[in-house]
Amino acid sequence: MAALAGGPLSLRWVVLAWVTLYITTTKAVDRSNFKTCEQSAFCKRQRNVKAENSPYRALLNSLEVTEKSIKLQLINEVNKVPLLLEVYGLQGNMTRIKINELNPVKPRYEVQDVLIHDPPTVPLAVVGKDEGSVELGFGLYKMIVTAKPFRMDITTGNELLLSLNSRGLMVFEHLRKRKDSRNHFTNSPGSAIHGCSNSETAHSVQPVRPTSVGLDFSLPGFEHVYGIPEHADTLKLKTTDGGDPYRLYNLDVFQYEIYNPMALYGAIPLMLAHNARRTLGIFWLNAAETWVDISSNTAGKTLFGKMLDYVQGANEIPQTDVRWISESGIIDVFVLLGPSPFDIFKQYASLTGTQALPPLFAISYHQCRWNYNDEDDVRSVDAGFDEQDIPYDVIWLDIEHTDGKRYFTWDPNKFPNPKDMLQSLAAKKRKMVSIVDPHIKIDSGYKIHNALQSKNLYVKTKDGSDYEGWCWPGSAGYPDFTNPEMRSWWAAMFAYDQYEGSLDNLYTWNDMNEPSVFNGPEVTMHKDAVHMDGWEHRDVHNLYAFYVQMATAEGQIQRSGGTERPFVLTRGVFAGSQRYGAVWTGDNSAEWDHLKVSLPMCLSLGLAGLSFCGADIGGFFKHPSPELLVRWYQAGAYQPFFRAHAHLDTPRREPWLFGEENKLLIRAAVRERYTLLPLWYTFFYRAYKTGEPVMRPMWVEFPEDVETFNLDEQYMLGNALLVRPVLEQDARGVQVYLPGKGQLWFDVHSHQKYTGSQTLYVPVTLSTIPVYQRGGTIIARKERVRRSSSCMHSDPYTLYIALNAQHAAEGELFIDDGHTFNFEKKNEFIHRTFSFANNSLTSRCADPVGRYDTTAWVERVVILDVRRPSSVVIKLSGGAESSLEFEHNPDTAVLTVRKPAVNVGADWTLHVR
Ligand code: GLC
Repeated sequence: MAALAGGPLSLRWVVLAWVTLYITTTKAVDRSNFKTCEQSAFCKRQRNVKAENSPYRALLNSLEVTEKSIKLQLINEVNKVPLLLEVYGLQGNMTRIKINELNPVKPRYEVQDVLIHDPPTVPLAVVGKDEGSVELGFGLYKMIVTAKPFRMDITTGNELLLSLNSRGLMVFEHLRKRKDSRNHFTNSPGSAIHGCSNSETAHSVQPVRPTSVGLDFSLPGFEHVYGIPEHADTLKLKTTDGGDPYRLYNLDVFQYEIYNPMALYGAIPLMLAHNARRTLGIFWLNAAETWVDISSNTAGKTLFGKMLDYVQGANEIPQTDVRWISESGIIDVFVLLGPSPFDIFKQYASLTGTQALPPLFAISYHQCRWNYNDEDDVRSVDAGFDEQDIPYDVIWLDIEHTDGKRYFTWDPNKFPNPKDMLQSLAAKKRKMVSIVDPHIKIDSGYKIHNALQSKNLYVKTKDGSDYEGWCWPGSAGYPDFTNPEMRSWWAAMFAYDQYEGSLDNLYTWNDMNEPSVFNGPEVTMHKDAVHMDGWEHRDVHNLYAFYVQMATAEGQIQRSGGTERPFVLTRGVFAGSQRYGAVWTGDNSAEWDHLKVSLPMCLSLGLAGLSFCGADIGGFFKHPSPELLVRWYQAGAYQPFFRAHAHLDTPRREPWLFGEENKLLIRAAVRERYTLLPLWYTFFYRAYKTGEPVMRPMWVEFPEDVETFNLDEQYMLGNALLVRPVLEQDARGVQVYLPGKGQLWFDVHSHQKYTGSQTLYVPVTLSTIPVYQRGGTIIARKERVRRSSSCMHSDPYTLYIALNAQHAAEGELFIDDGHTFNFEKKNEFIHRTFSFANNSLTSRCADPVGRYDTTAWVERVVILDVRRPSSVVIKLSGGAESSLEFEHNPDTAVLTVRKPAVNVGADWTLHVR
């Protein structure tokens, strides 16, 4: 408890002031709370290293070919410290480049638990060598290692794809012994010192700084880079010359500013570079504070300037240069070689895993606020949704539901009968989420605290005592989630007999897991706090939230004996967090720009593997105008995680409190979401299978169309729907870019047809959500909306077939029970492919392994852009033909075929004659 300055009384004031500020102020972010690169010693030091001859030289004679990698020593010619370079060729068009000290005085931290396995390698051979360089080859790629100064170039054919240290900005600060120390390094990390009360052992964790690492990458031919969430910024990353680099350091930023590179709650160190011919990825596996600089030789050049270059034959190839700087750890970088965006998703997923398939309820609508006050409040809000006929699946309880911010407990006055409350929700097939934050109230009457203290599972100060910080409960301990023992203990706390009052329809929200420490530096944990095996907090900071969510998800799985899929919402994330649930973009504001920035924020997270993203509908701080709220619901209905949330001090926001007309508009948006749940679920299944994002930038679907590279206000839902929510106040119309020469697009409401590529001006009213189905796709909907998604489980489907110019279309549908792992463990699922060609629509099995019994049937088939047929017949495989009723609208060319009445799992063909 020793680390924090000031006596308990002064601390109390600081915290009280902080909490009051947090709760009441309307002031925007206080930048002085957060470091700039200039104020971050290692960032400043590294940024001062200018592009020039690098001091690093590769010792080509040290080259060693091992079974998995090629090793080579590097030497810093100035300080003579030797480094070890390891190069791997990885399966699936990737390479891994690791640089560490050859003989560190103690081991340096290497990220644990993020990679799903040791990535399988492919043979990497020395294919050429002279006195100054060595050429390594794998697959279609070559890597040329130049000795002096050290640099690496990755090529394919005659094309240079990417260079490392080509600007000579590599920095590897080696660990040194402290002058005043004799045997400080005898107890290296790796020996189990954590949990040991012996102060001498704890003392063995000595500062051996500076320890930062940095490397530059050049990307010839690329003008567009994306990713490295989380930032409240545009989709296309900006150049950082003259400003701060993008910062990756999980932080609780109060009232964050938008359109800037400041750090936010999450950090996923994956960057994508894209041009019309290929996509590349750089995955920098380091969990310490990290800064990313981006510069470009075309930045600032106008289109005219570029044209002038061209006319004058300046012939300069556009190039983006990036530079990664981390405070500690090693250089461990994966270069994902694509070449397509979908290859990148697959490559990244093969390293860090895919999006967990959410239970169906979790992709439905969630109603939250800080706070629903008591059981009566919950009951009346729940009833309100039924009265207003608005579907919803989950009601949320924020921190006030606990007994004095002691997580895993209930306030005895406000929530005396949690089980009854949960049961009445269950009766309507609805769920609840309660918040469980990772800071634990220090209170000898609290069993969670007592257990953690006695088991010695809290993070320590550098002096070996339990680290203490301030958060919602006041003085709190921070469980060391990097410790597997801690995680399994935490997981066990979700057992029904441990978490009293919980039932199987109670799920979890992990907030404040950056971790947020109100009185810590930059509102987070001191960097010299100590985790398992003596690692400093600085080494593992960006992993803390990842581990919290991992342990929580594991707890939910365990409580069901391994059958049920978990649902855990987290605020902080790292690479790999996609395996454990959903993320939201934190404490936004009820402002139009915040609505707008929610698109690129979720798109960037999706590019980095985390599809299950959403923003607080309506904005967390402040009170939205009815128009803003309506627009936010409309946008949110088309974002993966769909939850309304509001700050404690804001007026109530239930959808019916904004007048009848607005209520109806909100209801329409929520209902639209429910009709599309089969599509969302199928896209989530694809994300689970392949890592591809559910909500994806336009360029992912139209990688050759440069017009799409900079679009922040529209995106694709899977491959099928183009969404351009209205994000502007008083909008009378919006512009939508419909890409693809000859590509057909259909307004999903009017079914009007458009042809790409063109920019369309779409007049809008307050009820309009501009959404277009791409010609050539088939989507499934459920059009009988009920009070919650589970109530719709066996309801019939309607197929919407949007034909392409060749009168063909394809689509798929994934169905299972919606909540267990049986789809994975017992192959209990249905996966269908629908294809339309030659005037026939065929439903066939997409994955013969799957079997699932359902009574759900196809009740309607709607085909867009067809002439009136003389008959429509359906033929079940092995059965006779039967003719079907249909209607054809000559104005819209829409054919509606009624009651095919076939089971959704059956094989059949429908002929339009
Ligand atoms: C944080 C969360 C917010 C939550 C509040 C109280 O500010 O981001 O969503 O309502 O804490 O728990």
